[in-house]
Amino acid sequence: MKVLGIETSCDETAVCLIEAQGDFGREFGFTVLGNGLFSQAALHAQYGGVFPNIAKREHAKNLVPMLRQAIPDIAGKTTFDEETLRTMLAREPELCELLIPYLHTHARPNIDCIAVTHGPGLEPALWVGVNFAKALGMVWNVPIVATNHMEGHVVLSLMQNDRLSAFEFPLLALLISGGHTELVVSRRFGEYELVGQTRDDAAGEAFDKVARLLGLPYPGGPEISRLARRARDTGMPRALELPRPMLHEDTFDFSFSGLKTAVRRIVEHGPLDEQQKMSMAREFEDAVADVLVAKTLRAVDQFGVNTLVVGGGVSANLHIRDRLKAALEEEGNPAKLLIPPPELATDNALMISLAGYFHALQKEFVDPAELAAHGNLKLA
Ligand code: KG4
Ligand code: ZN
Repeated sequence: MKVLGIETSCDETAVCLIEAQGDFGREFGFTVLGNGLFSQAALHAQYGGVFPNIAKREHAKNLVPMLRQAIPDIAGKTTFDEETLRTMLAREPELCELLIPYLHTHARPNIDCIAVTHGPGLEPALWVGVNFAKALGMVWNVPIVATNHMEGHVVLSLMQNDRLSAFEFPLLALLISGGHTELVVSRRFGEYELVGQTRDDAAGEAFDKVARLLGLPYPGGPEISRLARRARDTGMPRALELPRPMLHEDTFDFSFSGLKTAVRRIVEHGPLDEQQKMSMAREFEDAVADVLVAKTLRAVDQFGVNTLVVGGGVSANLHIRDRLKAALEEEGNPAKLLIPPPELATDNALMISLAGYFHALQKEFVDPAELAAHGNLKLA
C-alpha cells in the first residue's frame, strides 16, 4: 500500500510517500519513496517563536514544492473540475494557485491513500494541510486517514531500519515537544491512556522560552543543549540552583513554567556573560531531565510496561536520552528503550505516513466533508 503523508501542525511543512506492507507486528516493512521536508525554523527565529498565521502562510507556499519532492515526477495531467477545487480551497488561495498548475502538468500518482495530521497542533497551520489533503483526495479520488500527530511520534519511535523493532506491549510513551509533554500508556496499537501531562508549558516550550531569556535563537532546545554540553565538558562548578517542579508530587503531571520564571528572575538582575549562560543552560537541562526521568521511571514501574518509547522534538536532546537510558540500567529495569534517531525526532511526514498506514489497513477512512483540524486534540 502506498501512503502519502502530510504534516503541517507546527513549523515543518512535510510530505512523504511510503510503500508499506504487512500488519502491526506481522511482516511489517516499509520503503520511503519520496520525502519533502521544509523547516520554517529560520523564519520564525526572527520573531523568537512560531506565529500560527506565519506558519500557515509558509505551509501554503511550501506544500506543493514538498509534494514534488515526495512524488517522483509523472508525465501527464490530472483531469479535475477547476471550479470545485477553487471552492474547496477558497480559504487557501495561495496554495490553490500553486496546486492547479501542478495538477495540469502531473498525472495522478499511483497511491492508495492520504494520511494527514488533523491535530494536535496550531489550528491555522493544521487547516492548510487538511485542506490540501481534501483537495488531493478529491482530484485523485483517494481515501483519507486523519492522523494524530502524537501517535505519529509514537509509531516512528517503534521503527528500526524500515521495520518494526522487536518490542512488547504495554508500552509507555514519553512525548516531549514544543507543544506537548505527555506520558501515555498503550496496551495495543491505536489505544492510548493519557496518564500525565504538563499543566502549563511544554518541555520544548520551556527550552525555547529560556533560550529566549538567554538571548539565544529559536528553536532554543539545540542551543541550550549545546551550551550545557560545553559546561559539562569544561567541568565548571555548579553556580546556581533551579527548582525541580513537581518532582516529588504524587502525580505524573508536569509543570515547567516555574523554571522559566526562575530563570527570568536571575536574568533580570543583569545580562549573563558566556560562562554564566553555559552554567544556566546546564542547570536548566539538568532540572528538566531530573523531572522527566524521575516521573517516567515511576510510570514504567507503576504500569508494568515492557517498552518505553520517547518521541517529539525534545527527544533529540542527547542528555535526556542518556539520562533515561542510564536510569533504566541503574534500576535494572528490563523495559526496552526506543528513541528515534535525533534527525527523525522532530516533526516530519514519515511518521504521519506510517501511523496513517496502520489505520488505513483497518479502513479507518474519514468522510472528507467531516475532516477538520483540531488544535487541541488529545491522544488519549
Ligand atoms: O516535535 P517538534 O519538532 O514540534 C512540535 O510538535 O512541537 O518539537 C520541537 C521542539 C522545540 O521546542 C525545540 O526547541 C525542541 O523540540 N528541541 C529540543 C532539541 N531539539 C529540538 N529540545 C531540547 N534539546 C534538543 N536537542
Ligand atoms: Zn511534534
